[in-house]
Amino acid sequence: TNASRPVVLIAEKLAPSVIDALGDGVEIRNVDGTDRPALLDAVAEADALLVRSATKVDAEVLSAAKKLKVVARAGVGLDNVEVPAATERGVMVVNAPTSNIVSAAEHAMALLLSLARNVPQADASLKGGAWKRSSYTGVELNGKTVGVVGLGKIGQLFAQRVAAFGTKLIAYDPYVSAARAAQLGIELVSLEELLARADAISIHLPKTAETLGLIGAEELKKAKPGLLVVNAARGGLIDEDALVDALRNGQIGGAGIDVFKTEPTTESPLFELDNVVVTPHLGASTAEAQDRAGTDVARSVRLALRGEFVPDA
Ligand code: MLT
Repeated sequence: TNASRPVVLIAEKLAPSVIDALGDGVEIRNVDGTDRPALLDAVAEADALLVRSATKVDAEVLSAAKKLKVVARAGVGLDNVEVPAATERGVMVVNAPTSNIVSAAEHAMALLLSLARNVPQADASLKGGAWKRSSYTGVELNGKTVGVVGLGKIGQLFAQRVAAFGTKLIAYDPYVSAARAAQLGIELVSLEELLARADAISIHLPKTAETLGLIGAEELKKAKPGLLVVNAARGGLIDEDALVDALRNGQIGGAGIDVFKTEPTTESPLFELDNVVVTPHLGASTAEAQDRAGTDVARSVRLALRGEFVPDA
């Protein structure tokens, strides 16, 4: 073994592309990032740490990481990395900000179409031996008003895709100008107006102190009755308990949920509701997105380990 090669610690399952792109100038080690003692132990010798969303890279991990130069998130969201704590210790944090945006937008579409046409429910029913056509009458997206909450990279890709279904688009995003939205053919409105007018909404926001609980009981009460809600962004942006109540009392017509307040989870009142379609945080789980995330972070890690400038992807 070559003692001078920097150690790259991979703490979650990543695409094979990451290994190829890292090259043989580094020593690769693996650890289960959710096994805290193992992580704290392994990180002590790491020059670089690679994670997805399950590994919490907090001050404790960073303190145990005496040699660490870079934390790389093979994906977009940095909510599992304490960036200020890393910066304080001179540890660079990089992500792959465009690697999975198309996959996330496509998954939101999949959830919306599943809700509109009861695909998962009908699939389960037919495979269970029942031919129930009348139970699964759906609605068309054509002619409906769709509200996009968060008009960043993913929100815009979702908007383009859902527009092809003949929908009218409105959006809420305090950081986007009405002029830019108009260029995209989207009317910018307040969150309250969006909820009141939309037949379906999809959320595309990062999880921050500002966005957590953005849509709570009060907001859901003012929603257009029967609203379909899609969240493939982050759990907790819509208050989960409030959503369950609104789904139970019919104010919300259905929800397609890929992300949860606590992950992983196999128990939620959401899982007991017929008008809810759920997936276990699969938005970025495509061959293409994982491949890109692997190559993108590997490139950034190589640059960071050489002390070179790391450009935005
Ligand atoms: C992200 O922020 O990129 C997603 O949560 C994807 C992932 O699961 O890695």
